[in-house]
Amino acid sequence: MTVMACEQKFCISFNFELVQFSGFQKCLREGDLMPQKREVVMKQYETDCGFQPFLVTAFVLAIAWMFFPVSAMAQPFFKGAKLCEECHEAETDIWKKTKHFTSFRTVHREPKDSSKPSPKKILKAVGGQKRMKRNETCYLCHYTLEKKDAGAKPQAKSGTSCESCHGASSDWLSIHDNYGGKDIKREAETADHKAKRIADSKAAGLIWPSMKYEVAENCMTCHGLANPNLKADDLAKMLGAGHPINPDFELVKYSQGSVRHRHYPPDMATNAEMTPKEQAELFVIGQAAALVSATSVMSKSSEAKYIEAQKKRAENAKAALAGVAEAADLLASPSRENALKLVTAIAGKDLTGAVGSKLPAKGDYK
Ligand code: HEC
Ligand code: HEC
Ligand code: HEC
Ligand code: HEC
Repeated sequence: MTVMACEQKFCISFNFELVQFSGFQKCLREGDLMPQKREVVMKQYETDCGFQPFLVTAFVLAIAWMFFPVSAMAQPFFKGAKLCEECHEAETDIWKKTKHFTSFRTVHREPKDSSKPSPKKILKAVGGQKRMKRNETCYLCHYTLEKKDAGAKPQAKSGTSCESCHGASSDWLSIHDNYGGKDIKREAETADHKAKRIADSKAAGLIWPSMKYEVAENCMTCHGLANPNLKADDLAKMLGAGHPINPDFELVKYSQGSVRHRHYPPDMATNAEMTPKEQAELFVIGQAAALVSATSVMSKSSEAKYIEAQKKRAENAKAALAGVAEAADLLASPSRENALKLVTAIAGKDLTGAVGSKLPAKGDYK
């Protein structure tokens, strides 16, 4: 059916969760989207499919609700880094040395230095569960809430982890580690099966490392305090109680230090550093994602500290992109659609001339 094929393509290209139920399928999460993003998504859908998406999905959903229990349409959930470790030892060793991992044991403790942010004060201001690991606001960014299966009670088992960056794995893990049957080893996998496995796991929510814009966008939801599930009220209270907000989060600086894991064929044993050309591309993509994020969340809160930080993020990004010819449309109108166009336009180009002088020094990597 053309409608379904189109819907599938749509979900994949926007990296939404594709949920299937007995002949019906639907991209979940449009309700979570920020208005700007939603508008872009709708436009794209109309161009691709020639009809209004939300009327169709609302219809499909209405029928689905009649026949299927809520659990059949559950959101994907985190299964835990332990499951990745089995096959991804090198990446796990690196992760365990990052602040994302070590913070699990430290961030809830009161700092001895009273000029540092106090978790106790922030928790008190926001309210809800008193322990940070159980608090519904804090765990949006600080923890990975793991579940064994859909019905289980979620628990904060680690800090920001593999799935925080690569996508909750409940729907994609069994696709990702199946090479064509129970007894088929990776080496014996056919090329067709591999291509399909990668496409299917992306459709089920895996953020593949080559999806650089999606990767960057995802860092921004936490580091730009831009998580759509974070209530404006709670955000204001957090910031009022001294929660930090860092407008200078720049992707090369933050991804090529402690966080870097880049083991690619043919040399899987080496954690490769980026070439200057790769850095320049990532720099531009990171700035594009920061600009779109800052612009779209600017109006989320009237808290002065928040608005000031978002303005700074946007200004930083605009200055960084000023010399990049392909960024003109994005600078004129900072939408996700224009950011994705920019990413396509610069693919494979050498931007070291345009942004080389703005790249962070290696010694400043986080
Ligand atoms: C049974 C083994 C296995 C498990 C378990 C597993 N992976 Fe993988 N993963 C692989 C292999 C092998 C590759 C190499 C690329 C390929 O052919 O898919 C890979 C590739 C990847 C890639 C893409 C890398 C590239 O080549 O671009 C990501 C990201 C990834 N895995 C994340 C995870 C995460 C996160 C988990 C845990 C939720 C996980 N994997 C669990 C075996 C596994
Ligand atoms: C939208 C994501 C987000 C939410 C929600 C959030 N934080 Fe944070 N938090 C961050 C980020 C990102 C940092 C690191 C900021 C930086 O760059 O310095 C941070 C830093 C902190 C720090 C400072 C840690 C340090 O190493 O100095 C404390 C304390 C803290 N958060 C407490 C909380 C508490 C308590 C809650 C819940 C009431 C909470 N946060 C909710 C994203 C978030
Ligand atoms: C802070 C976000 C973040 C976290 C946490 C994270 N990754 Fe990644 N991962 C990335 C990014 C970004 C890339 C792309 C690197 C590149 O190509 O430059 C990547 C690349 C990969 C790759 C391909 C390159 C390689 O080194 O193998 C695999 C596999 C992978 N991640 C698995 C994991 C696993 C397993 C964990 C948890 C132990 C994990 N990642 C934790 C962001 C993250
Ligand atoms: C789910 C939320 C989340 C995501 C996604 C996320 N981070 Fe973080 N990150 C945090 C929090 C929270 C901290 C602060 C921990 C603390 O201070 O205790 C942090 C800290 C860091 C630090 C340490 C900074 C320092 O000052 O030492 C680096 C580097 C970093 N993140 C890079 C990244 C990059 C790059 C990405 C995307 C590829 C990313 N993070 C994605 C939540 C997240």
